[in-house]
Amino acid sequence: MKENGSSEKELFSFLSSVRSDDLSYDRILSSMCTRPHPVAVRAHMLFIETNLGDPGLFPGTMGLEDELIRMLGSLFHHPDAGGYATSGGTESNIQALRIAKKQKPVARPNVIIPASAHFSFDKACDMLGLEMRSVPLDATYRMNPDTVAETVDSNTVAIVSIVGTTEYGMIDPIRDIAAVAGENGVFFHVDAAFGGLVAPFLEGIPPWDFTVPEVSSISVDPHKMGMSTIPCGALLLRDPGAFGCLNVDTPYLSVKKECTLAGTRPGAPVAGAYAVLQYLGREGLSAIVSGCMENTRRLIEGMEAYGYPRIVTPDVNVATFDCPLTPEGWRISRTRQGHMRTVLMPHVTRDVVESFLCTIGEMNA
Ligand SMILES: Cc1ncc(COP(=O)(O)O)c(C=O)c1O
Repeated sequence: MKENGSSEKELFSFLSSVRSDDLSYDRILSSMCTRPHPVAVRAHMLFIETNLGDPGLFPGTMGLEDELIRMLGSLFHHPDAGGYATSGGTESNIQALRIAKKQKPVARPNVIIPASAHFSFDKACDMLGLEMRSVPLDATYRMNPDTVAETVDSNTVAIVSIVGTTEYGMIDPIRDIAAVAGENGVFFHVDAAFGGLVAPFLEGIPPWDFTVPEVSSISVDPHKMGMSTIPCGALLLRDPGAFGCLNVDTPYLSVKKECTLAGTRPGAPVAGAYAVLQYLGREGLSAIVSGCMENTRRLIEGMEAYGYPRIVTPDVNVATFDCPLTPEGWRISRTRQGHMRTVLMPHVTRDVVESFLCTIGEMNA
């Protein structure tokens, strides 16, 4: 740190130049985040000072968090679900597994996850001392209920399935896996960090949310398809009382107990998420999802026309290809199996898709 502070002019000119080193979302097809909606940014700024870690000081913001959870709970057919705003899918998944572990104290606890699971489960299992049983996927890149049934035992504290897998955009067969969880009396967590704000707006998706009685908890991230400001995730629980097992005493705060993982928690992204969901409503979100799905189909059609077949037909807006190219000027990513992976977020408009396909066409010529 300098002895004497910088001038604001000098400082912001430096910050602007640093910021200009960042990539613009225009040509990013590898991210599950997107530009926040302007309404989210405005709400975020209004709540910039708020700290949900000491909610008694910010009762207004605390009420907004409750409203956000209620909105998401209603979307998932359980308006009375318990929940709180996390920093994202990683924290939500860690907290869900913490609850599952506390609910079933066994000597050598294990968790069954699909091979498609996000690496947040590696972190969670490491932190919580859980054996991670990763089960292979079926030919459609989904979790196989029969394999889950073969893997579960008396030490299994949780089964995890995914709605909108990170790499291939698939929705696991939630009802069938729920049946296995139910038969074995095991906590069933659905990681819908990405797909939770996509699946409710798709036609013909089998029930996956709290309408499935065995679903114990759901992770969903407004900072992904909810176009909120970062960081905003949420963990919802069927039984709000189940959070109680995480409570610790917080003697010097305005509340006496806390079940969250983080202490200090920003209210600003919660306001951002609330604002954007309220502003768009189901109709607006549905229009955004249908645009992203349309663009996903167009990209698949265009890539296949150039001879790069899809790996699988995705359930949500993630498209993967058997394509070795690295399109110049674009950001794509690779799955663990080496397939080209693209995420058709709201910033990936139809024009962006056509421009990407042009690049592929030129490289193919
Ligand atoms: C399915 C799924 N779960 C969890 C996460 C982790 O979310 P975050 O990076 O917000 O912690 C991701 C991130 O892409 C994800 O796709």
